[in-house]
Amino acid sequence: MILLTQIPFQEIPMNLLLMADPSEDQIRKYLQNSWCLAAKRDDQILGVLILSPANSLKAEIKNIAVYDEYQGQGIGKKLLQKAQALAQEKGFHQIQIATGNSSIGQLALYQKMGFEPIRIEKDYFLKHYNEPIMENGIACKHRILLEKALM
Ligand code: ACO
Repeated sequence: MILLTQIPFQEIPMNLLLMADPSEDQIRKYLQNSWCLAAKRDDQILGVLILSPANSLKAEIKNIAVYDEYQGQGIGKKLLQKAQALAQEKGFHQIQIATGNSSIGQLALYQKMGFEPIRIEKDYFLKHYNEPIMENGIACKHRILLEKALM
């Protein structure tokens, strides 16, 4: 059985977080001011999600990652559902998530979960990351922001 639970950030393996965000510096910055959710089976971490305040009304999912061998089994969806419940409980009215233009599977998943694209930040990844990022044969250049209202 998979258990979703909040854990201290010190317990999260950095290699898991780096699957979603290549910048360890950025990760270390947002971890300080975040809630960390883990999907666990028999005490083993299979996936994580990091939720931070974006402003007083909006929470942001900064990082979501599931180890390769456990992907495609619904763990990502469960983490996203739990993050929405947590954000609501903390009093936020909206929740947002951002990803690259080349992240086809992630864009599909977030929209299936009710997130709507609201903005494209042109050349975001070219400006903020030193190394070029290629995914699905597409250059990752632009950041797409998606948002969902919390009822
Ligand atoms: N087209 C259509 N749907 C797709 C596609 C695609 N190309 N790829 C994936 N999906 C859908 C699947 O069909 C599935 O939906 P369904 O259940 O309706 O069929 C859904 O996406 C996947 O759902 P889960 O199994 O719940 O997700 P998973 O446990 O595999 O976790 C995650 C998803 C976290 C994105 C995982 O793939 C991962 O860790 N990737 C590497 C790290 C990463 O890229 N993280 C996100 C970066 S952005 C950020 O962190 C804010």
